[in-house]
Amino acid sequence: MANAVIVGTQWGDEGKAKVIDYLTQKSDLIIRFQGGANAGHTVIADGQKFIFHLVPSGIMYPDKVCIVGNGVVFDCEQFLREVDELESNNISVDGRLFVSDLAHLVLPFHKAQDGASESKMGEGKIGTTGRGIGPAYSDKTSRTGIRVGDLRDWDGFVKKFKACFEFKSRLIKTMYHSPFDLDEEKILDQYRLIRERMLPYINDTACYIYEAASKGKSILYEGAQGTFLDIDHGTYPFVTSSNTLAGYACPGCGVGPSMIDHVIGIVKVYTTRVGNGPFPTELNDSLGEMLRKEGGEFGATTGRPRRCGWFDSVMIRKAVQLNGLTRFALTKLDVLNKMEEIQICTHYEIDGKKVEQFPSDTLALEKAVPIYETVKGWKCDISECKTIKDLPAEAIKYIYKIQELCYNIPILIISIGPDRNQTFEVEPI
Ligand code: GDP
Ligand code: IMO
Ligand code: MG
Repeated sequence: MANAVIVGTQWGDEGKAKVIDYLTQKSDLIIRFQGGANAGHTVIADGQKFIFHLVPSGIMYPDKVCIVGNGVVFDCEQFLREVDELESNNISVDGRLFVSDLAHLVLPFHKAQDGASESKMGEGKIGTTGRGIGPAYSDKTSRTGIRVGDLRDWDGFVKKFKACFEFKSRLIKTMYHSPFDLDEEKILDQYRLIRERMLPYINDTACYIYEAASKGKSILYEGAQGTFLDIDHGTYPFVTSSNTLAGYACPGCGVGPSMIDHVIGIVKVYTTRVGNGPFPTELNDSLGEMLRKEGGEFGATTGRPRRCGWFDSVMIRKAVQLNGLTRFALTKLDVLNKMEEIQICTHYEIDGKKVEQFPSDTLALEKAVPIYETVKGWKCDISECKTIKDLPAEAIKYIYKIQELCYNIPILIISIGPDRNQTFEVEPI
């Protein structure tokens, strides 16, 4: 298959992992390029369920190579837990799972800082996952971070760790006025063992990827989070701390744009969000409750209930623009099975004016009133459908309405259930 970047088009949890797992069948190399263990990527195949936070979602296939790229902030403890879980389910990762030596480490004091920062913000907090993501990316751009490759030289690592630890201890106690009860020696003892386990995975992955591509291997670049959590283009400050857009696949794993043929946007056919921030089509009523229940909309990382709302075409049009999408993968169509009627947001009204484009100004977005078009629901179970032709007419109409409102991007995949088999292709690449 052509090389493709897979990105979320909303606020995350669109079903990226499910689609990546499906497309892995036709690919050789699967690479995570940003984010960290804030991601919760669910794969269900033959009744076996895994939630990955760092390991790429293609790992279930024994002959595929998976890479964690340099753009990821990397939590060794979480990574090794996932490796253990895979191994205990007889999925061997030996010789086919690598981590970039240039990826920055998320260390226990980053998580402590994340928590302290959120507590200090009080009501105005972001609602982070608490996985230390913001502090780790801040240290990276402040040029004070510690990288995965630093684990190779234990004495050098200890020196860097101690300097950071001392700084974070003072920061958290004096600036955030929060308790800091981490034990430096205990963590170093733990990391001495972690280092031993990590060494076989550490690699110059940019070089590995280039060589694999030169041999004609096909690559899937796995995005985390979603377009509107992007640090630049998302609903700032209620965003994550990395660039989540497709373009970041390049610096996030060390390849050039010429190594990407397609950009696949994962579009959930309604909208969800975890954490704080504006959400124009949010439903704070029994319909929202129904979407949460039918869609199992609870965070895969934190277990928090996801906020739910109608499909928002204003967002997806923006996602097409920002990512240069060449295909859609529509997910969770089955979740709407019981709906009498379905609303589609076609545009917003802001200060009495009709608005077609997603506003870059978060304050304007907070004032956005969604304008809806209503379509009829199909009121039947679609989870056994095998092709688009098997879908009821109302479901097909809904899909094509979405497409028409969003620049007519061709639909690669329709997903009608959480299992790998509940997937069909419409316009392959
Ligand atoms: P990701 O972060 O984008 O990979 O998505 P998550 O794994 O956090 O959340 C998606 C959830 O929806 C998971 O529980 C999936 O198993 C589930 N899922 C994915 N696709 C479908 C689908 O088409 N229908 C249903 N009912 N569930 C789905
Ligand atoms: P996947 O890859 C949904 C949200 C958090 C919070 C904000 C900042 O599974 O789609 P952070 O911990 O990154 O500093 O939190 O971003 N968030 C996600 N929401 N899915 C995710 O990942 C998310 N990763 C972060 O809830 O609002
Ligand atoms: Mg998720």
